Amino acid sequence: MTGLTVRSTAAILIFSAALPAGCRRTAPPPADALLDTIRADERVGNLSYSEGQGKHLFVQYCATCHGEEGHGDGQNASNLNPPPPDIPTSKNARDAAYLRRVITQGSAATGRSPLSPPWGRSLSAQQIDYLVAYCEALTRGKR
Ligand code: HEC
Repeated sequence: MTGLTVRSTAAILIFSAALPAGCRRTAPPPADALLDTIRADERVGNLSYSEGQGKHLFVQYCATCHGEEGHGDGQNASNLNPPPPDIPTSKNARDAAYLRRVITQGSAATGRSPLSPPWGRSLSAQQIDYLVAYCEALTRGKR
């Protein structure tokens, strides 16, 4: 490497280090029309994509106790004491951190009965995010 190349390489390094972070950011990826179409197709009612994904999971794993809309009227609800609460009107269900804890660690982790099972080992963090989003969506307009 010649002295000139070394000097200009050093100059480039110094110059790029001095650039503000905003100028070095890479451009956002181009919009993906196919992905947007798939997401639009998968939307459930007036729910966002994440909330809709949460609803699918809720119907599969939770509705047997909680009922599809979280009213505590699932097929198994009458066997439970305490019964599953009405999530849409529950004050607790407006707190995302609380929802995440109950869903991940089970209701026992919040000092309640152990009847709501822990899902942290059987569902992914992404699936739990979707379930939190759905429970929050159930409380929308019910404040
Ligand atoms: C076997 C029945 C059962 C299943 C399955 C179940 N739950 Fe529960 N859940 C309950 C009961 C009963 C309670 C009330 C516990 C208490 O108050 O001690 C509860 C409480 C909760 C609460 C607290 C609500 C509040 O207002 O404090 C949340 C949130 C919740 N469950 C979410 C879920 C989600 C999400 C799933 C599915 C991934 C699920 N549960 C599956 C029975 C169940």
